Amino acid sequence: MKTVDYPPEQISSSARETILLGEEFGKSLAAGNVVALSGGLGAGKTCFTKGIAAALGITEEVTSPTYTIVCEYEGFIPLRHIDAYRLSGEEDFCLMGGEELVSGNCVVVVEWPEKIAGLLPENTIFVDIEICGEKKTLRRIRKTGCEHTGL
Ligand SMILES: Nc1ncnc2c1ncn2[C@@H]1O[C@H](COP(=O)(O)OP(=O)(O)O)[C@@H](O)[C@H]1O
Ligand SMILES: [Mg+2]
Repeated sequence: MKTVDYPPEQISSSARETILLGEEFGKSLAAGNVVALSGGLGAGKTCFTKGIAAALGITEEVTSPTYTIVCEYEGFIPLRHIDAYRLSGEEDFCLMGGEELVSGNCVVVVEWPEKIAGLLPENTIFVDIEICGEKKTLRRIRKTGCEHTGL
């Protein structure tokens, strides 16, 4: 599997910048990578995913799959975008074929990964987005908790 080389922490000061950082990060991804994208409501997880999609050659607009849970896009590498927010937990995800959904020949991005933590593969790449700054316009984007992948 390709090594992901991304600075451990970056600050974004706009939605546009978060998309660009997502795109930069997305360029280092390969089919089979699973990205667990954590952060509170409005942190910018979907923004960051839009950037990842751009890096994968996806031209279709990426929108939040909050209600559909899963959305798939065709690109140089396909993207499977999962939003686990509305799932009650891992059992719920398993019932909809979750174990297969977090594997496959595509890049998988999971928002609210804590909901399905036990089902994420061992080599999952963790990225956390935190709202910061006095006016709440800054975002701290960090790659976290992936020592076991050697990244
Ligand atoms: N630096 C920033 N990065 C990302 N989004 C930002 C930033 N500053 C403000 N925003 C706003 O925060 C919201 C992020 O929305 P979204 O990406 O859907 O969040 P999430 O998927 O984490 O719930 C958008 O309305 C966006 O315009
Ligand atoms: Mg979202």
